[in-house]
Amino acid sequence: MSSPESPDLAALLTIADLERAAAAALSPMALRYYRSGADAEHTLLENQAAFARWVLYYRVLVDVSTRDLSTTVLGTRVAAPILIAPTAYHRLAHPDGEVGTARAAAAAGLIYVMSTLATTTIEDIAAATPGAPRWFQLYVHKDAGLTRALVARAAAAGHSAIVVTVDTPLLGRRIGDERHGFALPDGLSMVNLLGDATPRSGSALAAYVAERHEPALTWKHIEHLRASTALPIVLKGIVRADDARRAADVGVAAIIVSNHGGRQLDHAPATIDAQPAVAEAVAGRCEVLMDGGVRWGTDILKALALGARAVLLGRPILWGLAAGGQPGVTRALDILTTELSRAMALAGCANVHDITRDLVREAPHR
Ligand SMILES: Cc1cc2nc3c(=O)[nH]c(=O)nc-3n(C[C@H](O)[C@H](O)[C@H](O)COP(=O)(O)O)c2cc1C
Repeated sequence: MSSPESPDLAALLTIADLERAAAAALSPMALRYYRSGADAEHTLLENQAAFARWVLYYRVLVDVSTRDLSTTVLGTRVAAPILIAPTAYHRLAHPDGEVGTARAAAAAGLIYVMSTLATTTIEDIAAATPGAPRWFQLYVHKDAGLTRALVARAAAAGHSAIVVTVDTPLLGRRIGDERHGFALPDGLSMVNLLGDATPRSGSALAAYVAERHEPALTWKHIEHLRASTALPIVLKGIVRADDARRAADVGVAAIIVSNHGGRQLDHAPATIDAQPAVAEAVAGRCEVLMDGGVRWGTDILKALALGARAVLLGRPILWGLAAGGQPGVTRALDILTTELSRAMALAGCANVHDITRDLVREAPHR
């Protein structure tokens, strides 16, 4: 929960500043849950570290007096190439919860991707942000009826895409959560799951996923889902070119190059390193988005130069929310869009179309 005194958000200059403020505001259990990666947390660290191994060969003498950060994602005009990644349990971060996050995204002109594991109902989030672009992240459950009902509710509530997370047949092992026993506090639950059986003890989320998620999820499910809804399908959690090609073959609208923020298979590649081959493999047949480790405007510039249409933000949003509720999320978005605008100017890019592949190269090995 939030600290009684709200920090001066304007004094928090970077995402790392927001993370420090969040750490001071959150309970140790919530902080551990949000921060953690799988196993030795190698991939968690690599997601950020890998960005530093790409360098920017900036262009000079370009008129960058006005910059346009806007773009489209699946046909929706957005103010910047940024989406809010689906993350669980926003009311654990702050009482503003998912509604605060969704409202901050709407005010910024960005797409909010809500998680299956939200602590606010699909309908309440929709009612709080009428007309705002929203996507729904789906965990496919063993109970096909529950999965169908979630998709139907998401469509009825005005979501414009279904994001199927494909990297979680079971939950990666987050050792801190297991050691200390992560569980949602009383009063919070996974309210969108009918007959909610939110476990309250031990390694609760892992147990839930093991019991309820479909571990036999295959391409057949994706084909079936695609045929059963008019909404575009986005696959989240791809790092390989062959999987990306297959995704395009089955007609998905977009791929999110993601390793779940380093929370699933440890030693999976950093997403910024995996992304170029994926973008090349799909060759424009579907849109390519990425997430994982984005903490600076230059990270976004690099991701776009390497073929992503936009990035998604996971923890930076949680840090903003924990540090200051809805205004904290707005602050996180301001920090990153302002940084991106400055980075574009310094790299000689007046708009996102100017962010071309030749701007980045791998750093020479030292
Ligand atoms: C606390 C937390 C909860 C998450 N919950 C979900 C979820 O419910 N569904 C999902 O598809 N991804 C989930 N993710 C993964 C994010 O969507 C995203 O892939 C990841 O956070 C991106 O990395 P970043 O945190 O470095 O930005 C979660 C990540 C975190 C940190």
